[in-house]
Amino acid sequence: MTRAVDARLTVDGTTRELPLERSTVGNDGVSVATLLSDTGLVTVDPGFMNTASCESSITYIDGDQGILRYRGYPIEQLAQNSTFLEVSYLLIHGELPTADQLTALNERVARHMHVHSGIKAFLEAFPRDAHPMAVLSGATSALSTFYPESVGRGEHEIELATVQLLAKTATVIAYLQRRFTGGDLIEPSRDGTYVDEFMRIAFSGTDGSLDIDPTIRRALDLLLILHADHEQNCSTSTVRIVGSSQANIYASISAGIGALSGPLHGGANEAALGMFDNIKESGDTVEQFVAKVKDKAEGARLMGFGHRVYKSYDPRGAVVKDVANTVLAELGGNDETFQMAQRLEEIALSDEYFIERKLYPNVDFYTGLLYSAMGFPRQMFTPLFALGRMPGWIAHYREMMEDPRTKIGRPRQIYTGEVARDYAPMDQR
Ligand code: ACO
Repeated sequence: MTRAVDARLTVDGTTRELPLERSTVGNDGVSVATLLSDTGLVTVDPGFMNTASCESSITYIDGDQGILRYRGYPIEQLAQNSTFLEVSYLLIHGELPTADQLTALNERVARHMHVHSGIKAFLEAFPRDAHPMAVLSGATSALSTFYPESVGRGEHEIELATVQLLAKTATVIAYLQRRFTGGDLIEPSRDGTYVDEFMRIAFSGTDGSLDIDPTIRRALDLLLILHADHEQNCSTSTVRIVGSSQANIYASISAGIGALSGPLHGGANEAALGMFDNIKESGDTVEQFVAKVKDKAEGARLMGFGHRVYKSYDPRGAVVKDVANTVLAELGGNDETFQMAQRLEEIALSDEYFIERKLYPNVDFYTGLLYSAMGFPRQMFTPLFALGRMPGWIAHYREMMEDPRTKIGRPRQIYTGEVARDYAPMDQR
């Protein structure tokens, strides 16, 4: 990083030079870290519309061009050629693995997929219809209590926690799927490959065997790759801010899972399918629904549309749409809903409201249709997103911990409350 002094800010007639922070590609930054002590002013940026909270070398997005790269590799190339565990290694360690490194990761993750009986009891204690994101968040935090040897900031602990999180959250999510179907929790085999083992635990009969359709296997692997990281989004920023207090990685990722559950973030995949169903049930045409969205009177949004960073087509959305085309044709998924989704997209993309605001389908617009075709109930869509995002959260936590400049995340505020007043006794209120 090179620094230059070529941004200037004038306050009360006095001009100060603000250092620039240079990126390798994309937006450079103006550092305002000393503004408060120099001027008594804070910067105001609700929703962090224009705030870079850290330097990161993991993922690059160009929202205007629709570009997404993990460690410099275009998402399209990774989607075409890679596997989820390979991408996980890339995100976490910075380079694509050699064959030996990938085999070692596969074997290590497979060995750690079993979970403590206490975790199974924990999962069983929740009502069967509990939302799996709430259970997943609790279970992820609880993992730290069952595996204390992986809790800590030392290299060994972080390496162990990395494998534990990749492996055990996959088993937990597969168990959550299994609970929906009323099946007993079966044991991981300890030597399977990641996606196969996840599907076997999620879908096999009581004898533990499952014939995995290669189309579904590939589609799921690909969806996990597409979700694996997305720089400083809401859940990743949550992981970082919690981790910045030196909370352990399990607690930090558990908080990130809570952030992901919201319908404006990861919960949008579940909300989008709900929206398609609501349109059908209401008897509205898609045109009438779009008119309601534009009217804003009922507060309806086109779920799976719009993005804080992408002001063009989300490159992940484009890949998902392609895969949905292939998979639904082959598996015979809900064609009527897919057609409705495509019609909604077509209408929105040619409508002035959406054009003006640069609203395009995001990754979540079509994923629900795919997950449905694979046999997942709607409540499982966001946990599947969490499964994909796990290596991204881990990579960001590790990057932050390795950066000696990391400080506890602690924003300022503009106070607008009462200035000062005296306590009033109860009988005088
Ligand atoms: N449908 C209708 N109008 C929308 C939508 C939408 N999906 N998204 C944004 N808008 C409108 C807003 O009403 C606003 O209009 P205005 O200028 O007339 O007030 C304008 O577009 C800007 O929207 P903001 O909410 O200010 O944009 P922001 O960057 O804060 O929000 C977000 C981004 C949350 C993703 C938003 O587009 C949204 O709610 N989308 C639907 C939910 C969704 O799909 N979330 C998943 C995002 S991807 C992910 O997290 C994996």
